[in-house]
Amino acid sequence: MKPSLTVAIYGAGQVGRTVAGLLSSDAGYSVRGPFDRSHRAAALESGADVVVIATTSFLAKVAADIRAAVMAGSNVITTAEEAAYPWHYDEELARDLHTLALENEVTILGAGFNPGFAFDALALTASGVVPQVTSLRVERVVDLSGFSATILRRLGIGYSAAEFDAGIESGSITGHIGFPQSMRIVARQMGVSISEIQRSIHPIAAEGRYDLPALDILPGQSAGFRQRYVAIAEGRAWFDALFIGHVDPVASGFPTRDEIIVHSESGDVHLAIKPGINPQVGSSSVIANSIRRLVTAPAGWLTVADLPPACPASDAASAISAAPGRR
Ligand SMILES: NC(=O)c1ccc[n+]([C@@H]2O[C@H](COP(=O)([O-])OP(=O)(O)OC[C@H]3O[C@@H](n4cnc5c(N)ncnc54)[C@H](OP(=O)(O)O)[C@@H]3O)[C@@H](O)[C@H]2O)c1
Repeated sequence: MKPSLTVAIYGAGQVGRTVAGLLSSDAGYSVRGPFDRSHRAAALESGADVVVIATTSFLAKVAADIRAAVMAGSNVITTAEEAAYPWHYDEELARDLHTLALENEVTILGAGFNPGFAFDALALTASGVVPQVTSLRVERVVDLSGFSATILRRLGIGYSAAEFDAGIESGSITGHIGFPQSMRIVARQMGVSISEIQRSIHPIAAEGRYDLPALDILPGQSAGFRQRYVAIAEGRAWFDALFIGHVDPVASGFPTRDEIIVHSESGDVHLAIKPGINPQVGSSSVIANSIRRLVTAPAGWLTVADLPPACPASDAASAISAAPGRR
C-alpha cells in the first residue's frame, strides 16, 4: 500500500472544514481535524507531515502556531493573508521563522486564492508572455455573502457610514487583506523595488435589507466596499489593484470577475475570469492542492512564486512519490 500523508488542520471554520472534506476524499491523505482552539496541541504538535492553519488573517496571531508546528517537525500552510509575504509587516519575525524552518527541514507557505493565486502566482504566469512589464492592473469583484460573521465584520460589512470610518481608523475594519502581499511577491520575483503602497477604501451602502446566513444588514449600512491599493515603484504607479466586495454583487450592478492586465510596451495581456472564482471554493482548493507541492519543496519560508502551480491529482500518494524534491 502507498504511504499516505498526514495532514492536521487547525481552525474549524469554513476553510478548515472544506479542506478537511476535500482531503478526506483522497486515500493519499490521512486527515486529523479540523481542530478548534480547545484542541490546539492536537492540531499543531502531532508532527503531522503538514499542518494547515486556517484561523485568522494576521501574521502576529498565527506566528506562535506556526512556530509550534514547525518545532514538531511539520510543514505548514496557512491561509493568513499576511503570511503570504510575511516580510512586508515583520521582517524580523519572518526571518526568525524562516531560520526555524530551515533548522527543522520543513517548509512554511502562506496561500489561498487572494493572496496566493490570482494576483501573484497567476499574474506572474501571465507576465511570462511579454518581454517586459511596464505596470500591472488587477481588479476583483467578489460575492462576500458566503463568509462567516467574523470575516464579514472584519471586512467592513453591516456598519453605518460613521461606524465604518471609525473602524477603518481604529483598524478593527480592514477591508480585504492581501494586495500588499501579492504586490510584494510579484515585485520580488521581477526585481522591482516598491517605495510605497497607497490605500483607499469606501463603503457601499445597502439599498434594501439583507438577511444573510451569517449577518443581517439594514438599509443604509455597508453591504459592500470599494478598495484600492497602488504600489509605487520608481516614482510611478507600478501595480494598481481594485477590490469590490459586496454581499449581493450581481443584483447591485457589480458582476463578479477576476482580471489581470499586464501592461507592456509590446502590447498588453488581459486575462479576464468571468464570473469571478468562488472565493470559498477557490481558496480551499488552492490549500488542498498545495499539500503535495509543500512536502516536495525546499525548506524555509517560501512564497507561491517559489513553487510549481497547485493542481489536483487523481492519486496524491503516487504523484508525491513521483515528484522531484526532498522526499
Ligand atoms: N489567502 C486567502 O485567499 C484566504 C482565503 C480564505 C480565507 N482566508 C483567511 O483565512 C482565515 C480563515 O478563513 P475562514 O473562512 O475559515 O474563517 P472562519 O469561517 O471565520 O473560521 C475561522 C475559524 O478559526 C477560529 N479562529 C479564529 N482565530 C483563531 C485563533 N487566533 N486561534 C485559533 N482559532 C482561531 C475561529 O474560531 P472562533 O469562532 O472560536 O473564533 C473559526 O472557527 C480568515 O482570516 C480568512 O480571511 C484567506
